[in-house]
Amino acid sequence: MNAQTPIADVLKEIDPATGKAKDSAKEFTVVGVVATRVTLPDDKVVAFVIDKAGEPALQVLTDAKSGAALVPRTEVKASGTLGESPLGTALQIKAGSLSVTASNKMFGLSEQRGGAFFKDASSLAGRYVQLTNVAIAPGPFGSTGTAIAKSADGSEVSLLIGKGAFKREAPGENVNVFGIPVKIGDQWKLAASLFRSTRAKEAQAIGFKRTCLTCHNPDTKLIGPPYREVAARYKNDPEALNVLMNQMEKGGVGKWGPVPMPPQAAVTPEERKALAEWIMSYRWDAVLAD
Ligand code: HEC
Repeated sequence: MNAQTPIADVLKEIDPATGKAKDSAKEFTVVGVVATRVTLPDDKVVAFVIDKAGEPALQVLTDAKSGAALVPRTEVKASGTLGESPLGTALQIKAGSLSVTASNKMFGLSEQRGGAFFKDASSLAGRYVQLTNVAIAPGPFGSTGTAIAKSADGSEVSLLIGKGAFKREAPGENVNVFGIPVKIGDQWKLAASLFRSTRAKEAQAIGFKRTCLTCHNPDTKLIGPPYREVAARYKNDPEALNVLMNQMEKGGVGKWGPVPMPPQAAVTPEERKALAEWIMSYRWDAVLAD
């Protein structure tokens, strides 16, 4: 078994002048959290893995089968050698060496930038960033694995959304996009990990005020189910918003377990709608992780 190498040290083995590995025979074992992943047209999967908050990610490359484990926010351990990937130089994972060591992990705060920054994103290359307040054309994603994010100032950023998002519904409202800047050819793109509604903060404040968040957390199970899982369950249900608003108004039991949710009588109809839309916005994580 190899000793673990910090990702910063693995990245030092990539020649900054050529972007290529200095020694493609040297084997490394790394442990880190998947920030985002892209399924390429040939079904190979590139994931961006971070082991220390605020530091650049290492690309890891594998096939679709092992790549299924490379879901954002999952901590993984993998061994391999450095070689070329369609998105740069990556740790090419040795068959059978990938294992999941934890789930639902965080990797620290994201830098926030507007669309114009992506003309030259080199200062944040490989780092986790938040592209703020962009519109993505509504409707299903195409088969190109990319989408265009438009800022109010007219600048456009090309998003790598991966083949897996094909035909899935794009957010039809303004969002912040989290992901990793990658240079392809001479263009900076953002490998997108998740979309978050620009109204999410407001809705979350209602969730605190109306005590939803004493029983629920977006990511982890408390007394009630994680909102991320609620959104994943109803992601293709056209009645989802009504189902959720109904649950708030009347309460419910048996859908997630034996513990009932009491009716939330104080919540106004407008608040119910804002909360339901916020909860369902977590389906965009599922869309990009599928
Ligand atoms: C006292 C704890 C508690 C509070 C407060 C609470 N919930 Fe729940 N919630 C639960 C439990 C428990 C369930 C699972 C019920 C079940 O299995 O059907 C649940 C389920 C849900 C679901 C899933 C519904 C479905 O159809 O699958 C949604 C959405 C939800 N809650 C939203 C909210 C919102 C929004 C608020 C605040 C307005 C809130 N909850 C307040 C405990 C709570």
